[in-house]
Amino acid sequence: MSNSSLKLPPPLGYRKDIPLYYPKTEAEIKADNYEIYNPNVLRSCRNFYEGNYGKVLLEEVSKYLPTGNDQNIVELGCGSGYLLGNIARNNPDFRCFGFDYSYQMLKMAAQVFRNKKLGNSAIQALQNGMADMEIPNQNLSNIEFALSDACMTPLPDQSVDFCFSCFLWDRVADPNKLLEEKLRVLKPQGRIMIISPFNYLGSEGWKTWYPIDKIISKIEDRGLKIIHRRNFNIEEMLDLRRNRVVWEVESLVFEKY
Ligand SMILES: C[S@@+](CC[C@H](N)C(=O)[O-])C[C@H]1O[C@@H](n2cnc3c(N)ncnc32)[C@H](O)[C@@H]1O
Repeated sequence: MSNSSLKLPPPLGYRKDIPLYYPKTEAEIKADNYEIYNPNVLRSCRNFYEGNYGKVLLEEVSKYLPTGNDQNIVELGCGSGYLLGNIARNNPDFRCFGFDYSYQMLKMAAQVFRNKKLGNSAIQALQNGMADMEIPNQNLSNIEFALSDACMTPLPDQSVDFCFSCFLWDRVADPNKLLEEKLRVLKPQGRIMIISPFNYLGSEGWKTWYPIDKIISKIEDRGLKIIHRRNFNIEEMLDLRRNRVVWEVESLVFEKY
């Protein structure tokens, strides 16, 4: 597959260096737990660098990346950017775009992966006995982070070769809208990947989307073929004593034909 270079349209505005594609109000920012820097952004960031959470997810996603140069890779709900950042670093010919709804998450992602002043980002100690942590900054030119609702991105139709999300599906208000957006932006022969514990917060999610076969048949009905399904456990470390949450995760990859 060969690509013309994908460029995002002009944003509505910027906050610091982060392009904004959603006019998030003060009330929406206040209501969003993922905007709370300490502990929530730090905790999410720490997940990636401590223990095997980040490593396991990166290995899983990397196996299904497209081959060939010059691919357009999109992560929806990229959080603090570890997965997409490492994909961009490992594949300098890819163009990578990370979207998230939290400015604070994106600020962390940009600080680590797009920082022109190379140095270390200090991730301060959380509660629970964890020590301070230093993350070496990287100055990557093939990655962009932007604030957008994952269900309404500024991406053109059929512009993306690989669109993935991790731990997002069960956190959006309507997974159907997320799916429609992934299908809209995907190119022919492109792939979508969904990694999630499918741990819906409300009964509607369970009624509509459980068991996971419902998701698979809905996506296959839209002209994609499932090429990979795997179930595995992943641990989120809570404190220095290794108290932890174990997530039962499913990884699904579909190809458009
Ligand atoms: C549970 S965290 C997962 C972060 C990261 N992908 C991971 O695997 O650790 C969910 C992320 O999705 C983002 N998010 C939630 N709803 C969103 C939406 N509608 N559009 C874009 N991002 C969203 C949150 O801001 C947060 O960064």
